[in-house]
Amino acid sequence: MMGIDWKLAANLAIRGKFLTMARIARGKLDALSIEDPAAMQRANEACFGFSKPLHWKFFRWVMRTHPCPRILNLGVYQGRDIAYMAYAKLAALASETPTAAEAEWTITGVDIFDGDPAGCPSTDGTAATTSVSEPASPGQRFEGVPRPTLALAEESLRNAGIEEGRVRLIKESDVNFLRTCGRQFDFIYVDTSHYFTETVAVLELARECLAPGGMIAGDDYFDLGPWGVEAAVKKCFSRHKVFGGYIWHASREDFV
Ligand SMILES: C[S@@+](CC[C@H](N)C(=O)[O-])C[C@H]1O[C@@H](n2cnc3c(N)ncnc32)[C@H](O)[C@@H]1O
Repeated sequence: MMGIDWKLAANLAIRGKFLTMARIARGKLDALSIEDPAAMQRANEACFGFSKPLHWKFFRWVMRTHPCPRILNLGVYQGRDIAYMAYAKLAALASETPTAAEAEWTITGVDIFDGDPAGCPSTDGTAATTSVSEPASPGQRFEGVPRPTLALAEESLRNAGIEEGRVRLIKESDVNFLRTCGRQFDFIYVDTSHYFTETVAVLELARECLAPGGMIAGDDYFDLGPWGVEAAVKKCFSRHKVFGGYIWHASREDFV
């Protein structure tokens, strides 16, 4: 077992505070502009996690602007992002007549569910970043944070009230799933390992599973210590955008 990586923990906490201050200064965290805050609160209560109003806004925007009946979430933890996506999809479809394909929307969630909430703690200092007990590949081990399990994620999503059959959770590594699934998705959200090498591997495999015109996105767009999401995204895409300074996104056609 390796010792505590205090330097990395402190860096993450400090960097997170600066990111949060910068986002507040830019008005990115303006809680008043959240659509349907009661629904977000319901998802938060049902699904413990670290995603925040920015993620809520991002998924609302994606579902409103991009047709995506086949959704893939790599990195489920307890399902908060999936709940956000499902609620956003329902809100988007309620405001228009859905196509037959959109009416059949599903979300596939893939996670190793091995009891290691790798990469989960927020970098804005709100989570247990100071209790890193073991920096381990592909992420880090954190104490004081509930461990992800498949049963817990399923129960959380049931509590969120998402219609039976809409969400399918799979206990599998991201790369194994992408290599073997033989499927295409219209929207892929990446939130597993944040290490550079692992992220590049996931993105390269995800390309084959993203339908033409599809969108790919992911959390924690920055590089720090062993985390290298920003560098990985820059390596894999000819262009990309960043939502609220934190969530990157690109289209199938942007892969290099
Ligand atoms: C940052 S958390 C995901 C948070 C989640 N999106 C949410 O809504 O709360 C990262 C998750 O990725 C999972 N994970 C880490 N490495 C993985 C891998 N190589 N393949 C699949 N899942 C992985 C961990 O088990 C953990 O649940």
